Amino acid sequence: MRILLCGNGIVSEKYLDTYRMVRENVKGYVISDDIPLPQNSENVFHISDLCKVEFDELDIANSHFETVVQILEVGIKKEKIVLCYVGLVYEYLKQYGKLDVRVRVPAVLTSMMVESGMVYGNRIGSINNTELVINEDYCRRGTLQLLAREINERGIIGDVAELGVYRGDFSQYINEAFPDRNLYLFDTFEGFWKEQEMQNVSSGFSREIDIMNSDFSDTCVSTVMKKMIHPHRVIIRKGLFPETIPDEPIGFAFVSIDCDLYQPILDGLRYFFPRLSNRGYIMLHDYNNPKFSVGVKKALSDYEEEIGERVMYVPIPDESGSIVIMK
Ligand SMILES: C[S@@+](CC[C@H](N)C(=O)[O-])C[C@H]1O[C@@H](n2cnc3c(N)ncnc32)[C@H](O)[C@@H]1O
Repeated sequence: MRILLCGNGIVSEKYLDTYRMVRENVKGYVISDDIPLPQNSENVFHISDLCKVEFDELDIANSHFETVVQILEVGIKKEKIVLCYVGLVYEYLKQYGKLDVRVRVPAVLTSMMVESGMVYGNRIGSINNTELVINEDYCRRGTLQLLAREINERGIIGDVAELGVYRGDFSQYINEAFPDRNLYLFDTFEGFWKEQEMQNVSSGFSREIDIMNSDFSDTCVSTVMKKMIHPHRVIIRKGLFPETIPDEPIGFAFVSIDCDLYQPILDGLRYFFPRLSNRGYIMLHDYNNPKFSVGVKKALSDYEEEIGERVMYVPIPDESGSIVIMK
């Protein structure tokens, strides 16, 4: 078995972690034509050279749909293409209306769950007449949907927000779940600020390698906005939080804080928690994620010390060990 892998970031790391068979059979790497080939590497190929290379399957494990389009354009047979990231599957269906390439992503596939209405995940299509429910951090997304249902059905007042947006992958679901509320999106939209990054490492809140591996700079506002289904509801606050806090008074019904680093998380709690409506929720990411939990936990406990009271929360078993804070 000769597998070529297209992707070298967190997505491919997770993919290789999950599938041992793939790990053992990767024989080469594929990169976009605009990235120079590394010197003396015989097993790295440009997309446009793929027709000259022999392989059994090409696993696309990154979050950039452009690479799928480019690979299709050079004429690679569809039966050799494997989509390894749920966002690609979702986008593929949106663009082409059917799934005629292969897919290898963790999926929840119980028809009983579907029939009983227990599924709040991303039900996107069918393969061999089996409903395919993609597990794109199913627990995180399902939790958001249920919290949104609570908030909307109970008429909890307030806008919604995400601090730490990156490419808008979670923000889009917040936007979808709250079509009638303003969605404030706080991010540099240029990745981590070097100083805060180094501060986090020197304070022992995260390891340098975990931060350096993903600096989140490959994004911009238009990438995020393209994903929003109610774009007129989105208010972009670009820059270093908390400098980007709006002047006007705002109340919040739902907030996602997902910025990895101690300082902005503490600043986020200082800003959002006092403005959170009664029976509103804050999803705080990475609380039980070993890569970041030291800083995240300290941010929450320092905040509790500042306000002189305990914050109520429930841990959830999503991929990054989020907690749901409530009032
Ligand atoms: C883990 S990513 C967010 C992922 C996103 N929530 C998702 O689920 O796809 C962390 C983001 O936090 C942002 N960030 C970290 N510190 C920040 C700060 N002080 N101000 C603004 N953005 C910040 C980074 O730019 C990065 O985009």
